[in-house]
Amino acid sequence: MADISIIGAGSWGVGLAVLLYKNGHSITMWSAIPAEVDMLQKTREQKSMPGIKLAEEIRITGDMKEAVDGADLLVLAVPSVYTRETASRMSPYVHSGQKIVNVSKGIEEKTLYTLSEIIEEEISQADVAVLSGPSHAEEVSRGLPTTCVVGAHSKETAEYIQDLFMCNVFRVYISPDILGIELGGALKNVIALAAGIADGLGYGDNTKAALITRGLTEITRLGLAMGAKAETLYGLSGIGDLIVTCASMHSRNRRAGILIGQGKSMDEAMEEVQMVVEGVYSAKAALALANKYHVDMPIIEQVNRVLFEGKSAADAVSNLMLRDKKLEHSALPWNEA
Ligand SMILES: NC(=O)c1ccc[n+]([C@@H]2O[C@H](COP(=O)([O-])OP(=O)(O)OC[C@H]3O[C@@H](n4cnc5c(N)ncnc54)[C@H](O)[C@@H]3O)[C@@H](O)[C@H]2O)c1
Repeated sequence: MADISIIGAGSWGVGLAVLLYKNGHSITMWSAIPAEVDMLQKTREQKSMPGIKLAEEIRITGDMKEAVDGADLLVLAVPSVYTRETASRMSPYVHSGQKIVNVSKGIEEKTLYTLSEIIEEEISQADVAVLSGPSHAEEVSRGLPTTCVVGAHSKETAEYIQDLFMCNVFRVYISPDILGIELGGALKNVIALAAGIADGLGYGDNTKAALITRGLTEITRLGLAMGAKAETLYGLSGIGDLIVTCASMHSRNRRAGILIGQGKSMDEAMEEVQMVVEGVYSAKAALALANKYHVDMPIIEQVNRVLFEGKSAADAVSNLMLRDKKLEHSALPWNEA
């Protein structure tokens, strides 16, 4: 049994609290919002996860020192826009070598840092790892079989975290490719917006399959240019997460995309989904990374045009269909004299 503190009490924090508690660990949850601490202490239920009860033994606190001090593992689960400020609040209480596993997905718009890079900048004394994969909180908390991958600097840390999370309904793989895992998790949210937009326009399964496949090509192209491994992006945190996010109504990115495809503006869609739509932030960051690494990312570019330049979604799709004719893969040319 380990002492695990979950920093962040949204859907994913709650889903993982339920999983890790069932695995026999002692759990503390921290929330930044005093009213949320009160509400969770009283009702043992998060509004976004109706019917999922937090056991009485799970401690809920707003005191960061209490949450961080002495924990065997810190699970950082706040929406990515809050990762830096939360890591900075954690830092004074984190001891040298204390393990943190980040389970959030995103890229910081201003710095283009991945979330583990932000955490390492804010908490340089920590041993930072990541966990990602096709894993909706709603399904994990109901005990539906799920697989994820943990990336860490050392195999020892990866195996330690694997042991804490793994059970008969949650299978965990390990990998040294932290960057690939993070890029897969963050960039699939942008493709999920595109998939939602296609659904909102009334397009079909062919369009969805095209977006998933060509989206993966774009993510892999950028990942390779940045030093990630193709195998990671063809795995759980790449194609796996793309499939689940582009196909599921649990995905807020896809839900926001559907509204945009139906003619709503980005702001109207964000308002209606009423949650942080991370793909919107990651879209800008992904385009900036594409420019920085001189990588062609046409879907990501068109999503940006629709979100931030008022381009119609139908025009964006038409542009994608009619752009320059290409080989399917530049590594597969004809050998002509
Ligand atoms: N929900 C899922 O199924 C799921 C699965 C895998 C990964 N993730 C990732 O986990 C992260 C969290 O997702 P979520 O679904 O829990 O989000 P969420 O929208 O449910 O999170 C809302 C919570 O964020 C916290 N919060 C609000 N303001 C804050 C602040 N200023 N500082 C710190 N925390 C604050 C509060 O606890 C609030 O309840 C995201 O990056 C998401 O991509 C989510």
